[in-house]
Amino acid sequence: MPSKDYRIHLGFEVGTGEAVDIPLHHAVLTGLTRLSGKTTAAEAIMKRLPDGFKALAFKTKRGEIAFTGAQPVVPLFRARTDWEYVQSLLEAAMKERMKFERSWIIKAVKGTTTLQEVYSNIKGELESGKRLRGLDESVWTNLAAYFEKILPQLEAHPFADSLELHPGPNLMDLGHLSEEVQALVIASSLEYVWQQGKDTLVVIPEAWRFVPQQRGNPVKWAAQHVIREGGAVGVYLLLDSQDIAGVDKAVLKSCDIWLLGRQREWNEIARVLKQLPTRERPRPDEVMKLAVGHFFVAAGDWCRQVYVQPAWLDCQTAVAVARGETEVPAGPELEGEAPMVIGDIEGRLEAAEEERDVLRGKVATLEQQLEVRMNEVRELTSSLEAQVERLAGMQEGVKTLRRAFQLLGISRGSASGDIDGIVAEVVKRMPGRETYVLEAKEFILKDYQQREVNRILDAVSGLTAEQKDLLRFIAGVGKVERREAARAVFAHSPSSFSNRTWGDRWNKERLIPVVDIGAATWDSKHGMVIYSLPETIKGRLEVYRPTPQEVEQVVAAAETIFAKEKVA
Ligand SMILES: Nc1ncnc2c1ncn2[C@@H]1O[C@H](COP(=O)(O)OP(=O)(O)O)[C@@H](O)[C@H]1O
Ligand SMILES: [Mg+2]
Repeated sequence: MPSKDYRIHLGFEVGTGEAVDIPLHHAVLTGLTRLSGKTTAAEAIMKRLPDGFKALAFKTKRGEIAFTGAQPVVPLFRARTDWEYVQSLLEAAMKERMKFERSWIIKAVKGTTTLQEVYSNIKGELESGKRLRGLDESVWTNLAAYFEKILPQLEAHPFADSLELHPGPNLMDLGHLSEEVQALVIASSLEYVWQQGKDTLVVIPEAWRFVPQQRGNPVKWAAQHVIREGGAVGVYLLLDSQDIAGVDKAVLKSCDIWLLGRQREWNEIARVLKQLPTRERPRPDEVMKLAVGHFFVAAGDWCRQVYVQPAWLDCQTAVAVARGETEVPAGPELEGEAPMVIGDIEGRLEAAEEERDVLRGKVATLEQQLEVRMNEVRELTSSLEAQVERLAGMQEGVKTLRRAFQLLGISRGSASGDIDGIVAEVVKRMPGRETYVLEAKEFILKDYQQREVNRILDAVSGLTAEQKDLLRFIAGVGKVERREAARAVFAHSPSSFSNRTWGDRWNKERLIPVVDIGAATWDSKHGMVIYSLPETIKGRLEVYRPTPQEVEQVVAAAETIFAKEKVA
């Protein structure tokens, strides 16, 4: 039987009390921690999988009370040292999307079998004095901090190197590990399941943390593999995330079941509604008012409000709750007075901690951006200093030259038709200086040319990923109608394009920045966009008299910046 035919009982439709089931596929579970009931819903789904199916969840916080009755499993960690995996580690360490040179990483992982060895190689590479353009210092500080954090934990704790899952819910407790090592374990487990397992549902906790949009993370790397290849053997992901703002869009796009619980922020609601695969959508104010255990469920072509039946609740009561005939009952952890207080405090603590972590993530990203800007300022300062020094040197040269003129009896104002002859004469009379004088001019010219090249490359690098997507498209076709580009690159429907404000925004955010740096020209009369980067580069370098090969090299270098494959 094809696995997509499996259906799982979820709960009852609000109002009618009709039973609702969902197909078994990649799903997203989102809503405010503590106020929506995500974990309870995940637990219910895990317990109602078809016979023989296995489910794996992770506990990432110490205090969390969840997944009662699940089989405990020992955390799995298997080191990988292939370059793609290591790249995801490095990106996770940097907390931002970085362009690590592929060749650089391939060199760093060559011949290694442990992360310790990878670390030593990277250290060697960075200490060898070769520079990673612009960022060497902070790159190294961050990478060192990352490896120094994970390596001791990997040694100190016991890890399994294979994964034995029992039918039904399984739980891996990672509460004692740091976020970085949790990511390594979840990634290893996912990888194991997609390679060796089948008929398994994996619940990814805190997807905003482990499957981030802007950055790399080993879990994201593994999740992308599962999404590409897992379906065939029946491996499914259930992403649990309070916030989908920072979650990788490609992974979200592959999820066709959405469970949308209570939210507070308009922005977040708007974001989620936009992602829903169905045409039917709830209104934002309805999402804000959802009670605990109540979700808008979108699957296939329907979207209904559902009261999710917890694993611990009987059908009759669940139907009554769905019909609004009775209050939402208290969960088992809240039964009895003392546990209620503790359960409540623990729950609030969990919610507060999650909120804090989301904010921390945002602060870390900002800090990282600040660091990058600071580095640019530092670089600029040192390049200015170098320039001042060079000018001082030139001043010396002028003085020497003036003295030489005096010696030759040539004074200011004395007419002379043959400057070249005089210069040649001066040069001849300055023993040992000839080469210096002649080369200085050439050298200065090349130096300025290099700076112009850097400015061009920086401008292209500075484009956002979306602007680069657009540029790559334009470069591919050479010349294209603006609306055609919008449609091809961003898959927007023609109707959203005919919307004036939308079109203006698209212009401002996507097209104008590309035009501004000279990578394309915009022929507003005919509505055409034309690729112009090679001409722009040629034009800007002209005064430095570059060779045609030099120009070609710069064009090629600029094109590789945006030719980089789109991250799937
Ligand atoms: N469907 C439900 N019916 C009744 N109580 C629920 C339901 N879902 C969650 N709860 C209760 O709400 C609280 C928070 O639930 P939890 O699943 O931990 O939420 P989240 O994972 O979104 O933080 C718990 O006390 C839980 O028992
Ligand atoms: Mg939870």
